[in-house]
Amino acid sequence: MKILIRNIGLLVNTETVPVAFRAGREMSTLHNIENAWLLTDEDRIAGFGPMSTIETILPGLDEEDNFIEIDATGRLVFPSFCDSHTHLVYAGSREIEYVDKIKGLSYEEIFERGGGILNSARLLHEASEEELVEQALDRLNEMLMYGTGAVEIKSGYGLSTEDELKMLRVIKKLKDISPLSIKATFLGAHAVPDEYKGRRQEYVNMIINEMIPMVAAEELADYIDVFCDKGFFTPEDTDRILMAGMKYGLRPKIHANELDYSGGIQVGVKYNALSVDHLEFTGDEEIAALKDTETMPTILPGAAFFLNMVHAPARKMIEAGLPVAFASDFNPGSSPSGNMQLIVSMACIQYRLLPEEAINATTLNTAYAMGLSDELGSVAVGKRANLFITIPVPNIEFIPYAFGSNKIERVILNGELY
Ligand code: NIG
Ligand code: FE
Repeated sequence: MKILIRNIGLLVNTETVPVAFRAGREMSTLHNIENAWLLTDEDRIAGFGPMSTIETILPGLDEEDNFIEIDATGRLVFPSFCDSHTHLVYAGSREIEYVDKIKGLSYEEIFERGGGILNSARLLHEASEEELVEQALDRLNEMLMYGTGAVEIKSGYGLSTEDELKMLRVIKKLKDISPLSIKATFLGAHAVPDEYKGRRQEYVNMIINEMIPMVAAEELADYIDVFCDKGFFTPEDTDRILMAGMKYGLRPKIHANELDYSGGIQVGVKYNALSVDHLEFTGDEEIAALKDTETMPTILPGAAFFLNMVHAPARKMIEAGLPVAFASDFNPGSSPSGNMQLIVSMACIQYRLLPEEAINATTLNTAYAMGLSDELGSVAVGKRANLFITIPVPNIEFIPYAFGSNKIERVILNGELY
């Protein structure tokens, strides 16, 4: 099937020579085309350009039977958002803890009372694979309508070999049935489960000796993650786990520096992590460690907002020449939303990104942070046709400005309309 979109008010984030990501000053570069057309062919972007050049492709299209035409007058066309950090396979919800948070309990205090990640682990243990698939699909479908075309999903609410494998099999199933592009990350080291209380080393040994080989044998994960932070796992634990994962070809993407200057960023860089995520506690040393590396610093404003945390120094990072990516962290405990339009708004207002920077941070740079920037994250010939068409809006600034409402009218994933 082919789709021709005509009269596009503004075609956003096009590339003729695709780059892997944008960093520093380049983050405010966005190549947009006014009054444009775009053609998809099967699941690929086949061409695009200003309306003055549309005549060049029309002759070939006349004979097409299976060909849809869309008029996008007054609308923007974007590459779909890529959400490079989520925990969207989970059971139930945790709104009771949310009330505890309002009353002033910290993330660590809630965790110590048996809430937090362990609460989700109990709920997940009781849920069947089918129930988990069904709940996660609802979340994915909602994200689709909000413009997300690719999503990374972590395990980490299993915390036993059996339940971690169960979660990863659910993610594998979602890869098969959802039109979104999905990457799976093994996060056995999300928290020390109750059974291993006071025996963290033994749990780490189990991750290394039992879980990682089994996850690898079933080819259930693309990446490996560790929650390297105060009260969870140390840089030494992380070191051991990442080394073990890398033996099986699992590249790290880690949780770092959310609760303290944990050393997580440095250990991530040491193992050439694809991304280090959260980064509320990022100082000059951490920024220096990230310079000239292949590790994407990733900020998760949903969690910082929900937990009332300090903000990661995004501006400072960009001014130091680093790239930044922004993802949702969709999870039941610290960010129960996968709305990437809201993430763009937060990036602009709370982290002082320009709209152009925020768009790069949620499309191309997040595509990189999930190993997909040669395939997704911008409008380029040959990339996957994952796009969205907005409602009539005046310009790109309007997207983060008018926060809270869904400004997306139509979604195209893999060249198909949703
Ligand atoms: O990314 N920081 C660690 N993990 C999740 C929270 C998970 C939870 O509370 O369930 C996060 O914010
Ligand atoms: Fe997370």
